[in-house]
Amino acid sequence: MVKIAPSLLAADFTRLAEEIKKVEQAGADLLHLDIMDGHFVPNLTFGAPVVAALRQVSKLPFDVHLMVTNPQEHINAFVKAGADWITVHAETHPHLHRLLQTIKDHGVRAGIALNPSTPLATIEEVLPDVDMVLLMSVNPGFGGQQFISNVLDKIRRLRQMITERNLSVTIEVDGGINAETAPAVVAAGATVLVAGSAVYGAPDVAKAIASLRG
Ligand code: DX5
Ligand code: ZN
Repeated sequence: MVKIAPSLLAADFTRLAEEIKKVEQAGADLLHLDIMDGHFVPNLTFGAPVVAALRQVSKLPFDVHLMVTNPQEHINAFVKAGADWITVHAETHPHLHRLLQTIKDHGVRAGIALNPSTPLATIEEVLPDVDMVLLMSVNPGFGGQQFISNVLDKIRRLRQMITERNLSVTIEVDGGINAETAPAVVAAGATVLVAGSAVYGAPDVAKAIASLRG
């Protein structure tokens, strides 16, 4: 079944606790937390101390998306902050196997993210070592961007790779997901949809989450 991970990036930052409760009560499966460092992506968000504070007010699994150039230096802090999933970008590190292993050694699920322009071949060798692949369907850095439809074929090819190799790897898609784009993303083989503006920008959050599920 399709899982929905609202992205807190689109929430009202003056009332984060309430904004999390809102999606929790509306049926969200995960809470997606976008960590940006102003280097890997041209924007800054929040860090581990904020995630640790939010951990106190929510039972939702925390899906931490690290958009930082030096993920290895931040794994510990986000584990301590209460992350359930930690996803690192394949573009950031020459030793992906070691990095993923470090995440898993902490008992946290490990994800690997790919920018729209990064080929699937980059992760072919580490596919058996990950719990999740996050395919970006916008160039990371900002919410509210338009879905890049070329990624649909990439989702299909990744689903095929996972099936052929008999692996159990979750496919998450992030960026420009709304009620119009979600059906094709799910049909292509994604099982977790990240949505920022489509959830937090909707007048009825529960309805928005339900419509993403299809
Ligand atoms: C973009 C982030 C996304 C973002 C998605 O860099 O990784 O998680 O919040 O926002 P929407 O759903 O508005 O495209
Ligand atoms: Zn994200």
